[in-house]
Amino acid sequence: MKMKTLIKTVSREHPEEEVIEEAAQILRAGGLVAFPTETVYGLGGDALNPLSSRKIYAAKGRPSDNPLIVHIADMEYLPPIVREIPEKARILAERFWPGPLTMIFRKTERIPDETSGGLSTVAVRMPSDPVAAALIRASGGYVAAPSANTSGRPSTTRASHVTEDLMGRIDMILDGGDADIGLESTIVDCTEPVPVILRPGYISRGMLEEAVGEVRIDPGILDENAGRNVRPKAPGMRYRHYAPKAPVTIVEGAPEDVVRTISRLTAEAARKGLKTGVLAAEETASRYRADLVCPLGSLSDEDAIAQHLFAALRDFDSEGCDVIFSEAFETPRIGAAIMNRLLKAAGHRTVPAEEGTEPERV
Ligand code: TXA
Ligand code: MG
Repeated sequence: MKMKTLIKTVSREHPEEEVIEEAAQILRAGGLVAFPTETVYGLGGDALNPLSSRKIYAAKGRPSDNPLIVHIADMEYLPPIVREIPEKARILAERFWPGPLTMIFRKTERIPDETSGGLSTVAVRMPSDPVAAALIRASGGYVAAPSANTSGRPSTTRASHVTEDLMGRIDMILDGGDADIGLESTIVDCTEPVPVILRPGYISRGMLEEAVGEVRIDPGILDENAGRNVRPKAPGMRYRHYAPKAPVTIVEGAPEDVVRTISRLTAEAARKGLKTGVLAAEETASRYRADLVCPLGSLSDEDAIAQHLFAALRDFDSEGCDVIFSEAFETPRIGAAIMNRLLKAAGHRTVPAEEGTEPERV
């Protein structure tokens, strides 16, 4: 399945009309186009065309029972594809759309089973990115788009990641530079009286609750239930994901203890001849000796940490690291989303830092 993949640069603020039209034409004809959004890059196909959705699964190597998110650009495109718009969903849409929020609704027959993975519900998002919005409008209004990565690998936050994974497998890549947020959208199931978070993201539980009152978290995605028989409701959250080739271990504890423990573990691995990688905050990164140290950003800048996480996980692969050790990033607002992705990358392998006697000084 080798095809020619066109790569076109596009301005994020003022998408060039002719570029968008060329991409939209591909989508209307049933082809696939990767494009930037404010969260991560998406791999787009016509959501109403079952053949396009099949092509998306094939290009990603994704199991076809894992449904796709349908992207719209304007509110009037929602009613034709959903059975009802619950009041709380209406409020959330008003507050957070366009933006990094996906909501689950009961679907109408306009959405083919191929797109919804055979479910009776459909996930819908209205992205705020101007390129995404222009492309959706020009292509007919409904773009199915999973993250533009090979199934199992970290999501793509820049066009070069998409090239790495999908070159020769899709028709076109729109290169609009780096994604702003760097983590996929928050997914909220709005088919229940109390909305349920199926995947944490930039829009936190607190932000949602401020808008609609109580919001639950799907027990299947909680770290304490990992390895137990609690299935996440979003099919995609059940699969191994985000994992670099090398095993990742997260070290948790007081900052000084974490630095000391990771340093000891890296030195031990290096003595065995292994190539080592460390994922750290900017504040502590310079304290490590490893083959590749990836500083994600300052602990006081959680947006930066989120934005750089997936690129860093990919860097360990390109560098050929054999083992990776990571600090934990329990930041106040998006820490839940960051740790959700990192724990999946680590296969939930965490170890407590060895406690030291020195006073803390970070
Ligand atoms: O930020 C994002 O959401 C990005 C950009 C491109 O918009 N898209 C994205 O799509 O992350 P994807 O396919 O990589 O992740 C979609 C997740 C999967 O875990 C899937 O199982 C879940 O959404 N999902 C889709 N439809 C669903 C449904 N009807 N019920 C429950 N989960 C659903
Ligand atoms: Mg994905």
